[in-house]
Amino acid sequence: MTPVSSGTSGPLKGRIRVPGDKSISHRALILGALAVGRTRIEGLLEGEDVLNTAKAMRALGARVERGERGQWQVDGVGVGGFGEPADVLDFGNSGTGARLVLGAVATSPLTAVFTGDASLRKRPMARVATPLQRMGARIIAHAGDRLPLTVTGSADPLPLDYTLPVPSAQVKSAILLAGLNAPGETTVVETLATRDHTERMLRHFGAIVTGATAADGQRRIALRGEAELKAADLAVPGDPSSAAFPMVAALLLPGSEIELQGVGMNELRTGLFATLREMGAAIEIGNPRETGGEPVADLLVRASALRGVEVPAERAPSMIDEYPVLAVAAAFASGRTVMHGLAELRVKESDRLAAVATGLRACGVDLTVEGDTLIVEGGGRPRGDATIAAHLDHRIAMAFLVMGMAAERPVAIDDAATINTSFPGFVALMNGLGATVRDDA
Ligand code: S3P
Repeated sequence: MTPVSSGTSGPLKGRIRVPGDKSISHRALILGALAVGRTRIEGLLEGEDVLNTAKAMRALGARVERGERGQWQVDGVGVGGFGEPADVLDFGNSGTGARLVLGAVATSPLTAVFTGDASLRKRPMARVATPLQRMGARIIAHAGDRLPLTVTGSADPLPLDYTLPVPSAQVKSAILLAGLNAPGETTVVETLATRDHTERMLRHFGAIVTGATAADGQRRIALRGEAELKAADLAVPGDPSSAAFPMVAALLLPGSEIELQGVGMNELRTGLFATLREMGAAIEIGNPRETGGEPVADLLVRASALRGVEVPAERAPSMIDEYPVLAVAAAFASGRTVMHGLAELRVKESDRLAAVATGLRACGVDLTVEGDTLIVEGGGRPRGDATIAAHLDHRIAMAFLVMGMAAERPVAIDDAATINTSFPGFVALMNGLGATVRDDA
């Protein structure tokens, strides 16, 4: 257990770079491993989740090394070139690592065993197992389609045309990665657009991927199979989901002004920024540019008086990991914030809807949960003065540390160790800006 607490902080001042994007970092390692040649990656997130994916890529036969200046090199084995791992693949806390790699091995003739920590072993795998079985993989999982599971990839894979039953970039990506080694065309249809990093990066590595939006708004993403991926250099943008924490802290702490440099601005990820601006947040977007096929910008954030808003369900995929910290911001806003379409929050690293509701109530905030809608009654400064159970969930831990920085009294987190999965150095970086976060061990 790593207990940590935060207390009255700020104003926050300074210019920082948040760590590399977690989604893009996983994909860079996986596609690098599936490409022919050497891929060099700048700005890879060195969080535990991504390091576990790096280990899995090594176990499957790729060479993955960290250079002296922190750049990473992957010598790939080519599509269809994975070898059978000698031991169990352990993805730690990471649903993205487990699900994407499951897709990547599903169409290769090898057997692998997947496991993870207590949080990951509770998360549903049927959403990826079902389509991958249709492509020919044999998957035997624990009760309730949970990890640990054993997969034997297909030696004679089939392409797939699949409509996503839930909006999930992980499921979409698993199917596309499996499609790389299948004949013909593999197609994924999504009703609500989810993050498209896999599609962008596949193109960057030379695969043929097309996307079309039909009149009814559905998106069809088609990948030409039996693809050859060529190694390509990549620069990973700063993670907008990590930027969310210093951003909300700066908005809530009077007199704050911070600059977040090189933040990924893919519009399928920036729903939180749009929502906060609707709430009255002063967030200026400067120096827009592209890196490795992804838009990036510098964000200037100033303390702001926020007001409650209604967040539509259609926006959920573009800010799915940001609801815990948005709920904290909403507690300080004037009026009520209504967040719709949160069903998927129940199957993240924890049941985030329950964890947020319990944590906010413990801090003295009024709220209701109606089905998959969360309604937070803002107004005034929450009391704080609570110990929050993080449930092995990094985003719950960081969101409630932000709460403690701005609440009347401190907030403690029972175990903040999982912050290292996505945001190594979070405590030092926040304290460097003027926050008061303490290790309570
Ligand atoms: C991710 C997709 C999202 C998100 C997760 C990362 C990805 O999950 O919550 O943190 O990298 O594809 P779902 O695909 O389950 O919505």
